[in-house]
Amino acid sequence: MPILKTQSLTKIYGKDETEVKALNNINLEINKGEFVVIVGKSGSGKSTLLHIMAGLETPTSGDIIIDNINISSLDEKQRSLLRKEKIGLIFQSYNLIPVLTVEENIKLPTINTNNKDDIYVNELMELLSITDRKTHLPSQLSGGQQQRVAIGRALVNKPAIIFADEPTGNLDTKTEGEVLNLLKESQKKYNQTIIMITHNMEIAKYADKIIKIEDGFIRE
Ligand SMILES: Nc1ncnc2c1ncn2[C@@H]1O[C@H](COP(=O)(O)OP(=O)(O)O)[C@@H](O)[C@H]1O
Ligand SMILES: [Mg+2]
Repeated sequence: MPILKTQSLTKIYGKDETEVKALNNINLEINKGEFVVIVGKSGSGKSTLLHIMAGLETPTSGDIIIDNINISSLDEKQRSLLRKEKIGLIFQSYNLIPVLTVEENIKLPTINTNNKDDIYVNELMELLSITDRKTHLPSQLSGGQQQRVAIGRALVNKPAIIFADEPTGNLDTKTEGEVLNLLKESQKKYNQTIIMITHNMEIAKYADKIIKIEDGFIRE
């Protein structure tokens, strides 16, 4: 069963001489529990596609259907609720809140939800090998540790879909492997869908589905 569909998705930035057609008529179906990898050259439209699927940006035309809900039919408040409940986001830059501790950063998405599962927060910190740093601030952590916190924050609400834009781009090979294993463990345990942009063909090998983008078009 598809958890996410896109229908004739098109995104145009700018106009006249600055016009860029970043996405051209994209039709995709992604099933629950799949590990999907998006590959393509720099500037091909990968981040635009990911951001639109995650509801962070709106398409120029076309639809995104998540769990049978057309997200274009939602207002900004409903969209943000859907993001909070169903979606986890991981970026190459960690975007942690500098004045909050590791534990507080991880728990941030649970604010204003019914999710008060401190046992899971502790479990996550164990899994991320970050428990001994839980009262540290982001500035006191290495890059790999900061990315593990960002992943904890993305997973804390047990989202149905995890969107990741080159999540291991700044990490060394060993930390990269650890981070990927973590994501895969969570995916299996909670039957989550992962949609990840990567340059790394080693990662692409593990994917259930590879989406290749060239100049805003899907290439089979
Ligand atoms: N906010 C924006 N305004 C104008 N053009 C943009 C914007 N974001 C992306 N683009 C353009 O859209 C195209 C696709 O960009 P992007 O999705 O970021 O590619 P990728 O992630 O594959 O490197 C590029 O040509 C880029 O210059
Ligand atoms: Mg990008």
